[in-house]
Amino acid sequence: MMQIKTNREEIVALYDGFRQMRETQPVSFNPNFQAWNLYRYDDVARVLSDHATFSSEQNRFIPAEYRDSSPISSSIVRMDPPRHHKLRQIVSQAFTPRMVAQMESRIQEITNGLLDQVVAKGEMDVIRDLAYPLPITIIAELLGISTERRAEFKQWSDAFVSGDGEATEEDMQASMQAMSSMVNYFTQLFEERRAHPQNDLVSALLLAEVDGEHLSNEELIGFCVLLLVAGNETTTNLIGNAILCLDEYPGEVERLRAQRDLLPKALEEALRYYSPVRLQPRWAVTETTIGEQRIEAGQMLFAWIISANRDEAQFPEADQFKIEREPNRHLGFGRGVHFCLGAPLARLEAKIALNAMLDRLPGSWHVSDAPLFPIKNMSTFGIKKLPLTWNK
Ligand code: HEM
Repeated sequence: MMQIKTNREEIVALYDGFRQMRETQPVSFNPNFQAWNLYRYDDVARVLSDHATFSSEQNRFIPAEYRDSSPISSSIVRMDPPRHHKLRQIVSQAFTPRMVAQMESRIQEITNGLLDQVVAKGEMDVIRDLAYPLPITIIAELLGISTERRAEFKQWSDAFVSGDGEATEEDMQASMQAMSSMVNYFTQLFEERRAHPQNDLVSALLLAEVDGEHLSNEELIGFCVLLLVAGNETTTNLIGNAILCLDEYPGEVERLRAQRDLLPKALEEALRYYSPVRLQPRWAVTETTIGEQRIEAGQMLFAWIISANRDEAQFPEADQFKIEREPNRHLGFGRGVHFCLGAPLARLEAKIALNAMLDRLPGSWHVSDAPLFPIKNMSTFGIKKLPLTWNK
């Protein structure tokens, strides 16, 4: 077997593996997980968007003793219409594009504050110094977490995402502990905001209603935890992965610096080329076929977004990072009723972060050859360290 020497080779090997599966076993059953793996664009897009046949509601299909008991499992991402539709309408009243746009100057300020710490040094770890702290600070501010509780809030968030696929008993304990501290914290915060509403997301969530229905306490907690889990590591990965793309195509840094209007397209291409979310699960509601395979009612499916986004049948020269790619109907934020609610926020944060880096880190950029530590968990794709130098 080939010796994998560097992270780059590891990443190339990962994508080669997906290409092979698309070509030879596009719909294949994994007995370890008792789940179907789907690798092609058309199949992944179908499964994500046909919610009548492919359910998100794991609680309907997994016996109680095997269920993930976190508040996420009862949040909108693991719910089907019509309940999903109603709850999404409620949370959309609070989590509005206008509210996200209002964050722009704060995102700018936080980004610049973080870059102030490193610009003079001529080097930074993009993950540690910018891509990690930016989204978590924004979410904490959006939720109205007081400054004194921010350090704790970061620990809770870390405990949820520390799972590397190699979680120890201790990690699990820490994660359970974090979950219960967080549930207590949010319960108290809801009480405070009910009594004294403020101009923040939690207050807006408490007020939002459809047909006279408000979110229950459990649903409110589920949504806040979902924002924390769904919105942090993914956005960190988008920023980190975009820098990895630019490192592979060094001429593009200069081009983007000169033509800033290309940046949104470059970020969409980064979402396709190195997708922060690897896969999403679904469960077959009825018996159906995908390709030549018969899927039984109740079986689990993994829709491999990361593979679909490199499918040559959908994206010509799929293994090339082309910042002006058009069309670019990538599945990085999903498809259909569960399409990422936080996409405008993630796009805005990544655009501001990259723009500030282009402004303040002059000349050509170089990512060190040191180990980058790809995240090993099953659902996200990114790296843990990204040492970058530039011309001072
Ligand atoms: C680059 C960053 C991000 C990526 C790649 C991403 C990706 C995704 C994907 C693929 C889904 C679909 C899940 C499914 O089909 O089952 C999703 C849903 C969701 N995302 Fe994101 N996300 C990102 C950032 C965010 C942020 C910043 C937030 C909020 C602060 C957020 C909140 C959500 C929520 C609430 C859902 C569930 C929507 C629903 O079920 O109706 N995401 N995201």
